Amino acid sequence: MKKLFLFFALLPSVIFSQEKDSVYYSKMQWFADAKLGIFIHWGIYAVNGISESWSFYNGYISHEDYVKQKDGFTAEKYDPALWAKLIKESGAKYSVITSRHHDGFALWNTKLGNFNAVKNSAAKKDVLTPFMKALRNEGLKVGIYYSLSDWSHPDYTNFTNKEKRYENDPERWKKYLTYFQGQLNELSDSYNPDLFWFDGDWEHSADEWEAKKVRAMLITKNQNVILNSRLQGYGDYATPEQGMPVVKPESEFWELCLTMNDSWGYQGVDVNYKTPQQVIDIFADVISKGGNLLLDIGPKADGTIPDEQVNILKELGSWTKKHSEAIFGTRAGIYKEHFAGPSTLSKDKKMLYLFVKGNPNEEIELLGIKNKINRVYVVGEGTMLNYKLMGKVYWSEYPGITYISLPKNVQDKYMTVVAVLLDGEVDLYRK
Ligand code: GLC
Repeated sequence: MKKLFLFFALLPSVIFSQEKDSVYYSKMQWFADAKLGIFIHWGIYAVNGISESWSFYNGYISHEDYVKQKDGFTAEKYDPALWAKLIKESGAKYSVITSRHHDGFALWNTKLGNFNAVKNSAAKKDVLTPFMKALRNEGLKVGIYYSLSDWSHPDYTNFTNKEKRYENDPERWKKYLTYFQGQLNELSDSYNPDLFWFDGDWEHSADEWEAKKVRAMLITKNQNVILNSRLQGYGDYATPEQGMPVVKPESEFWELCLTMNDSWGYQGVDVNYKTPQQVIDIFADVISKGGNLLLDIGPKADGTIPDEQVNILKELGSWTKKHSEAIFGTRAGIYKEHFAGPSTLSKDKKMLYLFVKGNPNEEIELLGIKNKINRVYVVGEGTMLNYKLMGKVYWSEYPGITYISLPKNVQDKYMTVVAVLLDGEVDLYRK
């Protein structure tokens, strides 16, 4: 596959030492509480069902044939209100949509160039604006994905993996900078998004992109706007891609972006879908490590969302709804030595949520908690659970093992969550 892309995806996410002041922490608050976002890759690549932008970049299809897909991009069944409802139903608190991918096709009526849904597709309409409105109507936060690179643009350096337009031509590069920064201005002025999700930064340095200036420009327009990390070090949070971090990332704020199958955009042949169970398992691991999950869907060219994806969103939604107190607004949980599974903590750290993977044999164990436990119950279900402290000897400070009984009849079909109310902030015995 795409060598460069793989290399990029494996790089540790860059963390940034931007102005980490009170403005930074207050703007990151909703993001830290949100936990779940829905990513949308929608563009002309859905017509043939081929990889977004990369298919021509890597030479699987000529650029000319790739671009022809615009004539099949009808959006005839596109119902942005329905999309937003479905996203809300999944439990997500925000959504990020590809306003323009590396192929240069813009979903909105940009004044900068004609390669967009209005002037150059069968849809003949702006498909971004109504979605931005629909998200706001549902009370969801609005995120805009924007690729810094545009492989179709005559003034962009790279065309395909075999062909570069030019190496060093400051005047031409300047034109490209004016173009992409102009589009960012348009997006910011038209939608005032809560978040910009950059991509495609790897082909140029921070200086070449004028990343510092871009950051300043967007923040001047909205001091609360959040920028992801893919702005060559000038972002606010880390964005690991596909690879679920095995250990808790160092950065305070992070978001795992993940496909439901193996493709970002709609590819009919790709039926390698994760099951709802697997998506929920990954989600629990993400929030247990203090991150967000940005789960991707790839709508078809007519604007409908594939059934498998709708099903995952709905199954995830019924689970997040039932367990919302253990998910939204929580913080990373305790170390796996204390509980062999994902966990989260309430902001005040007095409530510990244990996510029980698999089907335990009616009992789970919690080790080395120094606190007194006041109450244990099943989240979203209410049943109080019996628990017993074992192995606590009077002459030792070792706090013992708490066995919590978890009868089969209270277990969730996907993952049961057990709430443990402590007598104060969680206090762990670490010897
Ligand atoms: C990568 C790919 C791209 C995809 C994105 C999502 O950078 O280039 O196709 O949109 O990741 O995270």
